[in-house]
Amino acid sequence: MVDNLYQVSDKAKPVLVFGRNGQVGRALQRCFSNLDVPVVFLGRAECDLANEDEIIKTLNLYQPQVIINAAAYTGVDNAESERELAFAINAKGPAVMAHYMVNVAHGILVHYSTDYVFADTKQTSYLETDIAGPLDQLSVYGQSKLAGEEAIKKTFNLAHDSGDGKYQENFSRYFILRTSWVYGDGENFIQKILRLAGEQTQLKIVNDQIGVSTSAQWLAEMSVKMIDSNIESGIYHVVPDGETSWYELARFVIETASRSSEGIDIKLTNILPVATVDYSMLAKRPHNSRLNNVKFKKALSKIAFVEQYPQWQEQVKAYVKESVTTPPRAGEVDGIYVCQ
Ligand SMILES: NC(=O)c1ccc[n+]([C@@H]2O[C@H](COP(=O)([O-])OP(=O)(O)OC[C@H]3O[C@@H](n4cnc5c(N)ncnc54)[C@H](OP(=O)(O)O)[C@@H]3O)[C@@H](O)[C@H]2O)c1
Repeated sequence: MVDNLYQVSDKAKPVLVFGRNGQVGRALQRCFSNLDVPVVFLGRAECDLANEDEIIKTLNLYQPQVIINAAAYTGVDNAESERELAFAINAKGPAVMAHYMVNVAHGILVHYSTDYVFADTKQTSYLETDIAGPLDQLSVYGQSKLAGEEAIKKTFNLAHDSGDGKYQENFSRYFILRTSWVYGDGENFIQKILRLAGEQTQLKIVNDQIGVSTSAQWLAEMSVKMIDSNIESGIYHVVPDGETSWYELARFVIETASRSSEGIDIKLTNILPVATVDYSMLAKRPHNSRLNNVKFKKALSKIAFVEQYPQWQEQVKAYVKESVTTPPRAGEVDGIYVCQ
């Protein structure tokens, strides 16, 4: 299974993962613990992605053949007042990684992006070919993530343009994996609902934002499969099948937790749907967060070991059952649509 991974990484040139302590970073740690592949995980303390010189020094030190960038400025509301920092981490940092890949390592860059690059320009799910933005309708977080995508694409496309417009395959590659509503080892919407369910009798939750929740563990596994394949460079929407609203997701989480044999002490008796306009938040959020995953599924089907594609419900169910038996890590995340 890891033949390509062996080819693209050796002891001198490991897989380098930024964002060690994030939800996706932790999920990647679990994935790689089962693989005999040289890998280095770095957190903010080892390399601050807001510091370009530090990134360059780190890349020169480890000389990775594969970079997985799971680090990001993810504070959606805080980004409104920290625009420069959000752009440094989410746009400039990935640009430096892309330059290193195309000019030095000729390997693979995996980078994560988000449904927040779209601003309700469609009623149906977004394709990878849909134009993102418009910029003035996006949150600062969305703008910074879009700038990161553009920087990566531009760097790779410039390097790969052979002059006659023909794209050269099997040279360095990039995967921009757009995903949405991620839950894993860390603070997220599901953890917050479970915690509040033990404290409150009533919650009001936004019901007019539609998208799908994505397991960090599954996303990490899909990332490894992408690296370990000949799938071509590009943007891919890596989300499970189905769609829901935050309100429906909360109800599903509570129903699942109530049915769990371990059980949790649930005080919550009432979940009320509210509109986004009735819920004041600093940053703009898209109403339509649906990402069309057909391109990703097609790419996966070219890999010999394709398994059945997941529906969001089965993954959330498994996560909730695991969560009620394992206390969540402490932490806070802003903007997760719960008012009490
Ligand atoms: N969470 C979601 O719902 C969601 C949805 C769509 C897309 N995504 C994308 O998916 C990716 C992973 O998200 P996630 O949920 O795993 O995020 P997360 O849990 O918030 O983790 C982000 C990580 O980035 C690190 N980081 C932040 N600033 C840094 C800096 N200056 N230098 C180095 N590291 C820094 C953080 O380090 P510390 O631990 O030190 O703070 C943290 O470990 C991101 O690209 C995100 O944009 C996430």
